Amino acid sequence: MKTYDFDQIINRKGTDCIKYDAMEKFWGTSDAFPMWVADMDFKTPDFIIDALKKRLEHEILGYGFKSERHFTSIKNWLDKRHNFNVNKDQISSSPGVVTGFSMAIQQFTNPGDEIIVQPPVYFPFFKTVKNAGRTVVYNPLKISEGKITMDFDDLEKKISSKTQMILLCNPHNPGGRAWTLPELQQLDTIAQKHNLLVISDEIHADILLNGNKFYSYASVSEYAAQNSIIFGAPSKTFNIAGLSTSFVIAKNPEILKKYNKILELNHLAKGNILGNIALTAAYENGSDWLDQLIEYLEGNLNLITNFFQENMPEVKVYRPDASFLVWLDFNDWGLSPKKLHQFFVKQAKIIINPGYVFGPGGEGFMRMNFALPRKKLEWALGEMNKAAKQIKNL
Ligand SMILES: Cc1ncc(COP(=O)(O)O)c(C=O)c1O
Repeated sequence: MKTYDFDQIINRKGTDCIKYDAMEKFWGTSDAFPMWVADMDFKTPDFIIDALKKRLEHEILGYGFKSERHFTSIKNWLDKRHNFNVNKDQISSSPGVVTGFSMAIQQFTNPGDEIIVQPPVYFPFFKTVKNAGRTVVYNPLKISEGKITMDFDDLEKKISSKTQMILLCNPHNPGGRAWTLPELQQLDTIAQKHNLLVISDEIHADILLNGNKFYSYASVSEYAAQNSIIFGAPSKTFNIAGLSTSFVIAKNPEILKKYNKILELNHLAKGNILGNIALTAAYENGSDWLDQLIEYLEGNLNLITNFFQENMPEVKVYRPDASFLVWLDFNDWGLSPKKLHQFFVKQAKIIINPGYVFGPGGEGFMRMNFALPRKKLEWALGEMNKAAKQIKNL
């Protein structure tokens, strides 16, 4: 088996990547080290790059389409990695996951309808709902003592006659929870009782750390299968987010038809040829690489956990079950959310996401991306430590 090198440090500056090149635009500084946007500082694997290069050798980049092989590769991947059984005719597509769930919100609900989201959560969850003129209803997660759980009592209370949909983040960003089967079953019981459609964003499903398991929401029950739309992608897993290629699953043919209608309306079904090729190459060849990536990320996460235990034990580390994002509780520092953020931008010069942007319950937390070479991670944690010592001495 080939061994992949995740230690290699690659300069991404000057490639028009958001993480490095748009720091000034988003955070008002270019003099900082970025650990924010959820992509990785590792090479996109060679079997994807080679497939792209081969296609480019043809030198005609006209319209493409999603072939049988494309859908077969998705089906086989889900079956092999997650034991999630899907028929090819239950699969559709979207350029991005956010584009996809935004279209689903517009297609399956009406202005004024209520949609449940579970903050702190990836901010497009509430932004897309608001932008579509629907009403966001917050069902905040319970976060304490190192555990993140859903608040089902609160959820029951928040559902009204206007509620139509739940936007589920499975696994969760920023909390990193890969929801267990009993948790998803409990959610499904409530969705059934109130006749709700569940949109499940499963973009972080593949990066399962420390032996955690992933359950697609559509595999939880027959009701869940028939009343959900699943959004997945190879983008996080294989570092190909810039190729805007995602997949969509609806086991209910009526729901799939209705989703495809808005996809066609927006003329988005063909996808882009390079994204289509990358997805197929990833899913046909990606298992060994992904296993090695996961092992490396587990090493990085252990480093982070040990670092905080030794140097800042007051900071609580919420170890993710899945993803390369770690949720850190800095509330014991007693800084306002804005001041905490300023500490990272101005003193530590490390750009990580302030928790409050993920909605209610995120205040005092920070989200750190740990998909980077270990030496760089060690260095960044050291910088953070130096800056923290300075403010503690003031
Ligand atoms: C939960 C979640 N959904 C969706 C996305 C973005 O997906 P896309 O670029 O396919 O819209 C991200 C990116 O960080 C994410 O964390």
